Amino acid sequence: MTDVLDIVRDLVAQASSIAVLTGAGVSAESGVATFRDPDGLWARFSPRELASMDGFLANPERVREWYDYRRQIIASVEPNDGHRALAALERRRGSSVTIVTQNVDRLHQRAGSVNVLEVHGNIIENRCNDCGRICLTDDITCTHCGGMMRPNVVWFGEELPRDVFARAEQACRECDVMLVVGTSAEVYPAAGLPATAANYGAVVVEINPNPTALSHQAHHIVRAPSAVALPQILKETT
Ligand code: OAD
Repeated sequence: MTDVLDIVRDLVAQASSIAVLTGAGVSAESGVATFRDPDGLWARFSPRELASMDGFLANPERVREWYDYRRQIIASVEPNDGHRALAALERRRGSSVTIVTQNVDRLHQRAGSVNVLEVHGNIIENRCNDCGRICLTDDITCTHCGGMMRPNVVWFGEELPRDVFARAEQACRECDVMLVVGTSAEVYPAAGLPATAANYGAVVVEINPNPTALSHQAHHIVRAPSAVALPQILKETT
């Protein structure tokens, strides 16, 4: 029987356009905790308190401290072989490779990926809640309008950045193959992107050591950690 890795490698090699949806699992092997695994962030911290506007308004200092704690972890880790394999694929195949990431850690970019759509924002920057100005300093109030500065991430109940998500949907409509890597596929609207790709004719491949909400819809499943599977699938030949 042909190994699923060979099948997926061939699909990628033959695809003229590839979309990759990534989630926290892609950074797990770098040492960044996921959210919904048994040892994940949401088992230890409250999303309502730390990842919602209500939680921020109730205790901005605690929320800022938590994001600073996560920033320190992210600054201390390195991209892993999964991130690097995706960056190498883009170097070979150019703009036909689009990474749509739910991750806020910028590890794809640190590995060398360029065409990355951050649908949940990023943790590196802060943003003014009123005027939207982005800055890298830890100012608490906006020097432009006096509004409250907050991490430039998407919190529960908030809309995703509209133009970024529109580009993600377009990439999913146009791709021949969609790799869905390291995500529980539970948080919408990002979790709906594989269905968009499949509806437009793409082959959807899940890469995840565990079953997810997407598994029953995936055309192929690679049950392995991404830092192991991606280098094998995305060999130089693809
Ligand atoms: P989750 O924590 O929900 O899911 C992580 C997934 O990674 C699970 O399916 C694991 O099986 C898988 N996983 C664990 N280790 C892995 C490895 N080494 N290789 C590959 N996969 C592995 O994380 P997300 O799906 O990214 O939102 O969560 C989606 C959103 O929920 C996040 O962006 C965040 C969170 O609340 C916001 O902050 C807005």
